[in-house]
Amino acid sequence: MNTNVEQFTDIKSLINCLGSAMDLTSPESREYYQRITYASCELAAQAGYVDAQLSELISRLLYKSVLSLLKDADYSFHDMRLSARNFQGMGTTLFKLVPDPDADQKVLRAGTADKMIDLAEEIVTAMDDNVAPLEFAKNFTPENKYPGEVINALEIMRTKDYAWMNLFYGKDLFGEVIKHNVSVSLDDTIRMTEAISFLIDFRSPFTAMHSAGVAASAVELARYAGMNETEQKKMRIAGNLHDLGKLKVPTAILEKNGKLTDEEFDVIKEHVFYTYQILREAKGFDEIAEWAGFHHEKLNGNGYPFGLSEEEIPLGTRIMTVADIFSAITEVRPYRKGMPKDKVIKIMKENAKRGEISEYLVEILVSHYDEIDNVRAEVSKEAGRRYFEAIEETEKAEEVERRRKEAEAKREAVQKEKEAAAEAARQARISAKENARLIREAKKKAEVMAKAESKKKAKEVEKKVEKETEKVKSAAQKAKKILPRKSVASEE
Ligand SMILES: [Fe+2]
Ligand SMILES: [Fe+2]
Repeated sequence: MNTNVEQFTDIKSLINCLGSAMDLTSPESREYYQRITYASCELAAQAGYVDAQLSELISRLLYKSVLSLLKDADYSFHDMRLSARNFQGMGTTLFKLVPDPDADQKVLRAGTADKMIDLAEEIVTAMDDNVAPLEFAKNFTPENKYPGEVINALEIMRTKDYAWMNLFYGKDLFGEVIKHNVSVSLDDTIRMTEAISFLIDFRSPFTAMHSAGVAASAVELARYAGMNETEQKKMRIAGNLHDLGKLKVPTAILEKNGKLTDEEFDVIKEHVFYTYQILREAKGFDEIAEWAGFHHEKLNGNGYPFGLSEEEIPLGTRIMTVADIFSAITEVRPYRKGMPKDKVIKIMKENAKRGEISEYLVEILVSHYDEIDNVRAEVSKEAGRRYFEAIEETEKAEEVERRRKEAEAKREAVQKEKEAAAEAARQARISAKENARLIREAKKKAEVMAKAESKKKAKEVEKKVEKETEKVKSAAQKAKKILPRKSVASEE
């Protein structure tokens, strides 16, 4: 933390602002991202990681959410595993400001951070408003397998009643994430909001360079209009965030090539409302919230959503409005080239004439057109480069994930084959044993039968012998009866 730099806001404000912004994109519930962030940070805290180490978690969450937004149809955190140059820095920028209480802290690695985020997502997805928080804490069983460290963290977290009550309560959870609130300088806030502007812009090639272009043009106009350096920095922040509420607008509407229906325009109108509501919550952001959140108000009172009058629209807002229209029409879009200078000037002057935007600022724009447009084009080009880098990285991440899944499927198939072979061998062993037992039993039976058979035969023989003996005996007896007479006769 650099104490020489003027302090502007604090970490909790920025994290809360980020959480509200991310939740605009969530189709699940208003506090979906906030809850996942809170649960994963609680898990990390139970595993012994301190505030300064949570940067890895926050940056991976941001990264995953940016990738999800680029994929748009799927807001899930799952399936993304790559590190990101563009967004990873954001969490680090934030958390390097948190004082380091212990030099020997363990480092939270990306792999572990991912697992904690996955478990947190599982927890939040399983949450049920009809189940009391502590009952849920006791009965929650993760479906996926997690490393021991993550499961241990969950077991410790189960004993922390407040954590589950917080999670269900769901208020200001990003503020709960870190225990030590720390001041943040204006320059660090600019870097943070630049990263948030990627979240806003990179959802669609139609808007990929918009916030960067608006911020750059607004700062130039502010400088020519005599705003001091601090005000110019605030103007950059307001420019980066002026379309924050567009995170809530579906891409189908953002990308519609043609006239919007009344219903679609009603949805578009909401974006400034959310920009204003989210930013006014952040410490130090009062002016920025007005400059950013009122950029569709018109000096003649016909703007939206507040319908402010000329007196209620501050100079910062007027600058933002001019910068927004100017950037929108000069930007290169997929369906058209940027508008040429003479046409842009014509349109801006017409707007001023209708009493919608400041004539004074249009004059400044016209007299410094080339300087302002060069800065805008330069910044837009850089934003465009980053956008394509992010797209490329998303594709790479998807490719890596596809390969990982393929390898996993192969590993699983091999494992299944191995298991089947082992099972077959086991079955074979069992049947061999069984056969041997059956043979032994059969032998025994045969022996027993043979014994029984021979006993039976012996008895039969005995009986036969007995019968024969009887026969012989009776023959003898018969003979006896006859013989004496015979012998008497022969003696005669
Ligand atoms: Fe806007
Ligand atoms: Fe805009």
